[in-house]
Order: sequence, then C-alpha cells, then structure tokens
Amino acid sequence: SNVSFVLGTRPEIIKLAPVIQECHRRGVDTHVIHTGQHYSDSLDAVFFRQLGLSPPDANLEVGSDDHGAQTGAMLAGIEEELHDIEPAVVFVQGDTNSTLAGALVGSKVDVDVAHVEAGLRSFDDDMPEETNRVIIDHISDHLFPPTEETAALLRNEGIPEDRITVTGNTVVDAVQTYDDRAASESRILSELGLTEGQFDLLTAHRVETVDDRDAFERILSGVSRASAQADQEVIYPIHPRAEDRLEEFGIAVPARIRLVEPLGFFDFLRLESTADVVFTDSGGVQEETSILGTPCVTLRYGTERPETAFVGANCVAGREPSAIVAAATQMRGKAGDWKTPFGDGTAAVQIVDTIPELPAREAVTPTE
Ligand code: UD1
Ligand code: UDP
Repeated sequence: SNVSFVLGTRPEIIKLAPVIQECHRRGVDTHVIHTGQHYSDSLDAVFFRQLGLSPPDANLEVGSDDHGAQTGAMLAGIEEELHDIEPAVVFVQGDTNSTLAGALVGSKVDVDVAHVEAGLRSFDDDMPEETNRVIIDHISDHLFPPTEETAALLRNEGIPEDRITVTGNTVVDAVQTYDDRAASESRILSELGLTEGQFDLLTAHRVETVDDRDAFERILSGVSRASAQADQEVIYPIHPRAEDRLEEFGIAVPARIRLVEPLGFFDFLRLESTADVVFTDSGGVQEETSILGTPCVTLRYGTERPETAFVGANCVAGREPSAIVAAATQMRGKAGDWKTPFGDGTAAVQIVDTIPELPAREAVTPTE
C-alpha cells in the first residue's frame, strides 16, 4: 500500500520522520509532499539530511505569504498530488498551515486523514495554530493524541472514541533515536566556546511573542535579567521571523544574549540537553526539555502542553520580566528526574499499527 505525508515546517519534518521510517521498515511505499512553507536550508533540508530522509517526492514551493494566499496555494497543489497518488491514508502532524491544508484536502478528496499530535488546545483563539488544531481534529479520521489529557479534550468536543488512539508523541522517538549521535557528533559546544551547564538557551518565534514589539522587548529583558542572576550567557538560535522583527522594530538585544543562526537538530539537541535553563515559546522545545531533563521556562501565558508543568519540567511564566526571573529561580538547579509525559518512544510503531490498511508489525520480514 501507499501512504502520503504532507509536511512543510521544521517541527513537522522532525516529528513525522519516525512515522515515515516505520512505514519503510514495514515495506510501505511513502510519498512525501512538502508544501514549501519552510524553504531555508536551516529550517528545512538540514533535517531531511540529518534524519536520513530522502528528499520530498513533491515540493509545492508555496513559500512565505499571508495565511489565505499561503494556505490556498497549498490546497491546490496538494489536491493535484493526492489525485495522482490515491494514497490509502494521508498523514499530517501538528498545527501549522501546512497541516491544515493537508487535512482539508484529504477530507475533501476522500482519503483517510491521520493527525499525529491531535487534541492539543491552548484555548487561545488569537493563536493561528489554535484555529488550525480545532479544524484539523474535526476533519481527521485517525487522531493520535500524545497523552490521556489531550485525548480527553477530544472526547469533550464529541470526537468519536473509535478515531482516538493515545500513542505518546513521536518527538520522543526522534529524541531517543538521535540523542546519542547528538552527544557524539555535535561540536556545537566548542564551536560556540561553551561549557556544559554554563549557559542558558533561548528560542522565541511565535507571532504573539515576536510580532509585538513590546512583548518581544519584555521577554528579552526578562531572560537577560534571569540569566544575569546566575551569571549565565544566553544562546539564542534565532528563527527568521524573529530576526526580521528585530530589524524592523530596531530592538537592541541585551548584551547577555548571543544570537546564532538556527541550528540543525543534532546541535540543537546538544545545547538543549546541556543548558542550565531553557527559555522558550516553542511547542517542540517544551516537549524536548521534558524528555532531556532540562528545566524549561515558557515565555507564554498558557500552553497546550500543560503536562510538562504537571511533571515539574516546565514553568509557564508569561512575558513580564519579573515573572520570568522568578520562574528561572524556581527552575534552575532542578534535578530533571521527572518522567516525560509524552510516552516511551514507541509512538510511531503504535501509529502505524492503528492504520488498518498498513501491514502489522508481525507481517514484516526482517531484511539484512
Ligand atoms: C510556522 C508555523 C508555526 C510553527 C513554526 C515552526 C503557521 C501558521 N505557523 O511559523 O506554528 O511553530 O512554523 O518553526 O503555520 N522564513 C524564512 N525562511 C523559511 C521560512 C520562513 O526566512 O524557510 C521567514 C519569512 O520571512 C516568513 C517568516 O519566516 O515570512 C514566517 O514564516 P511562516 O512559515 O509564515 O511562519 P513561521 O513563523 O515559520
Ligand atoms: N530546533 C532545531 N534548531 C533550532 C531550533 C529548534 O532543530 O535552532 C528544533 C527543536 O529541536 C524542535 C523543533 O525544532 O524539535 C521545534 O520547532 P519550532 O520551535 O520551530 O516550532 P514549534 O514546535 O513551536 O511548532
């Protein structure tokens, strides 16, 4: 049988890689449709190379645009692809415009839609991702919430039980697969002149953080003050959206914060696992720090990953500098011995097991 994957951004590549690879292990042909939402090497091709994925079978090259134009171009391109391929199922992951487009076309052309990382809700309607999540979940045929909490949110919205399978998050599979290689192959600590445990890490790229000048300045100031208290330097691999806004707003980045280019997965994992504290507004980074045992401070007023806070891995601080400083004080030095809420690293196996058209694990003949 033949399955399609629609993806378009950095986190989708990372989190679908384990599912694509599990399909290959079972002899299933995959057809990867890249929307082209992300196209810079550092947000795109580097992950295909590092995760050992073949280049996409199709790239729609939609690029950056307003939401309507971007999503519209994706819809037209994906529709053509799915008509040609006629897959048994189309996989999408997460909550981006690429995810929405893949799910919407799948449901219209009557291909089963499988949503990896279903059920997350921030309950903040101002986030473009929240709109995407709700729509995607309600038009998907197979929903894979990472936790019991997210599954309960889906049931509360009336999604039929037989569509829901709790699997953990495929990001655990990815981290378990690549963590050792990150530790042995990455040279990022010496390249940046860093010592384990002697720096903090920052990522911030969300619209509500960086597209608002005041919010962006406040989080930079809060992180800088929090790290000054522990005499740590802050490394900030900066997403192009954030870099554009810094320039547009003419923001002076505090001296304690060092900007670097967006990093490949191995280098980023290495920094995440050796940082003293990680400050972030990223979804994937909240998850990965809970897996790697590094304390996390979230620079948002809420999170669709509250499980990370329940286990003690994450403090949701908001954007006020004093609150960021207080959260860092609370998190710094934590042992990191919590259990990640996102499963045991078998999410991809469980996901492929659930799709009736795909061969079972037992049916796979081992190859050399
Ligand atoms: C998108 C997702 C967001 C996700 C993030 C992952 C939506 C609505 N947002 O946000 O949920 O967390 O990806 O990183 O789908 N740019 C480049 N090179 C690229 C891509 C973008 O320079 O390869 C720049 C462009 O100036 C562009 C801006 O980044 O305007 C934003 O890109 P876009 O894809 O619209 O959204 P992200 O902020 O990346
Ligand atoms: N990431 C990376 N290099 C970086 C920053 C992040 O490889 O410089 C990875 C990180 O390990 C995680 C994912 O990108 O797996 C998170 O993506 P992002 O923060 O862009 O999106 P979100 O998860 O918020 O949607």
